[in-house]
Amino acid sequence: MIPIDPLKFDHSKFHRLLLGSIAPRPIALASTIDADGNPNLSPFSFFNAFGVNPATLIFSPSRRGRDNTTKHTYQNLREIPEVVINVVTYNMVQQVSLSSTEYPKGVNEFVKAGLTPLQSERIRPYRVSESPVQIECKVREIIETGDGPGAGNLVICDILLMHVDQSVLNDKQEIDQEKIDLVGRMGGDYYVRTSGNAKFIVPKPLSSMGIGIDRLPEKIRFSPFLSGNDLGQMGNLEELPDKDLIQNFGENTQLKAQISSNHNNVFTLAKNWIAEGRPADALALLMAFV
Ligand SMILES: Cc1cc2nc3c(=O)[nH]c(=O)nc-3n(C[C@H](O)[C@H](O)[C@H](O)COP(=O)(O)O)c2cc1C
Repeated sequence: MIPIDPLKFDHSKFHRLLLGSIAPRPIALASTIDADGNPNLSPFSFFNAFGVNPATLIFSPSRRGRDNTTKHTYQNLREIPEVVINVVTYNMVQQVSLSSTEYPKGVNEFVKAGLTPLQSERIRPYRVSESPVQIECKVREIIETGDGPGAGNLVICDILLMHVDQSVLNDKQEIDQEKIDLVGRMGGDYYVRTSGNAKFIVPKPLSSMGIGIDRLPEKIRFSPFLSGNDLGQMGNLEELPDKDLIQNFGENTQLKAQISSNHNNVFTLAKNWIAEGRPADALALLMAFV
């Protein structure tokens, strides 16, 4: 490992290290207006949600690294502390990227990026019609993390009203992750699209509490054939497999033949079963033969 002390490292290089490793990041397409009512639109990926009571979003239009100037979004929020945060989907990502162009103050990025402004209900900045989730917010506080180049300006927002397009909801009125097709920002020019097999499911840890990897027999726990992901799924079982199941596998002639031809087969088979969502069977198999 290479130790890197941010105090002794070039800011822009450290910024790139952060962007490349704290990723993928959600993107807030922030719509603001200045005191004269000129709209402004820009994306920010130093962004997330931080609680629901009160419902809070935070994003950071940072000071520019090259000349320590502040961004129009930040300036507008100091004038009119209201913002619509719009989520970004694959269908609009090129326009969103275009809206990040550093146009002079007063230039309307809705126009430049060809996105459609929609009147908000509780605040003055416009929503972005193309975004399936538009969140009207009032700024509670702005925390400046510093005053030098690259310093963050944490804009802490209270959510006043969230608009959700019916078409991205499932029948439980929750956001359907297959339908919404969000994108995230990574390092360099990389983005990630959350569709197809870019998405995968990790079942939540058991509320009844899994046994933990430490309870797996040592020969299994320290096997070079099993990955951390394999062990994690077996550690999430409610209990160790019962003796009968282990014995059944141990006496199964087909399994015995398969494994005696090459002992590593037991691990290959166990890994396949884990991948198929059968970690309990996999653990019983391993306990029978390892
Ligand atoms: C996807 C994406 C994410 C971005 N995230 C940030 C960010 O978190 N903070 C930031 O200061 N700039 C970020 N930028 C750059 C700003 O969007 C860019 O500086 C923009 O011109 C600021 O516009 P404004 O001056 O109108 O506020 C991002 C750009 C893109 C394309």
